[in-house]
Amino acid sequence: MRIALISDLHIDINEDYPVLALTAEEARARRADVLVVAGDISETPERTLAAVEALKGMLDCPLYYVPGNHDMWNKNCPSRRTEEIFAAYQADESCLLHGPVVLDDGRKKIALAGDVGWFDYSFAAEGFSREALDGMAFEGRTWQDHFFNDWTKDNPGQMQKSLCRLRRQLENPAVKGLPVMAVTHMLPVRDFCVPEDVHGWGFFNAFLGGSALQDLYRSYPVRWAVCGHVHYRSQAVRDGITHYCPCLGYHTEWPLYELENNEAQTQIRNAMQLLEV
Ligand SMILES: [Fe+2]
Repeated sequence: MRIALISDLHIDINEDYPVLALTAEEARARRADVLVVAGDISETPERTLAAVEALKGMLDCPLYYVPGNHDMWNKNCPSRRTEEIFAAYQADESCLLHGPVVLDDGRKKIALAGDVGWFDYSFAAEGFSREALDGMAFEGRTWQDHFFNDWTKDNPGQMQKSLCRLRRQLENPAVKGLPVMAVTHMLPVRDFCVPEDVHGWGFFNAFLGGSALQDLYRSYPVRWAVCGHVHYRSQAVRDGITHYCPCLGYHTEWPLYELENNEAQTQIRNAMQLLEV
């Protein structure tokens, strides 16, 4: 079974590029049996849901995704509460918030479990007070979720809720006994955090994820884990779990990858990772 992975398509920030069509083209070129998107499709829930439908129409394989923090924002729909936006994704059968999915190609069976995940400050450098972390601001810069997501009133509490939702999926009778791919937008391992010597990131890594996700995965047959959020393209093996971070990221970041060119097709080909099980 060939599982193609990508995240952080940011179709609004990258709107000068045909990101959805090129993603579908790349998934076809890799002969993917399924495409998994680990969040941050856009910053408007309706636009993300429409993009998911459009992408499904372009693919010749199923698509599953989790929302990212940007997909959860009410920046462009200020009257909507975060819980209401969350419920809209939960109702979408292509969204892993709807429930776990069993993939079966007749030879191999694996389960996909997923959630947006959240952050509990465990990836922050030592020495920041709880009050400072709750404030989500450092040297005049504020982490944007603070403005556009109600959950940020209690970030560690939201991480606990995410862990409960994931645990419920992992305990689902249809999933039990199967090898699992866990999909979150947030990072389960510190490996993908921004180096602390990059100014400000000792603080802002607090809002990238949390090791409680990995602790949960270790208690279940999670063999693979996918995340996005940090706009890296990387892989790491921790506790026998292979972690994938396959971010496309913003077009303004593409030159940082130092590829042969900064065309969207080149970047998508570089960002997408393929797992064969
Ligand atoms: Fe992102």
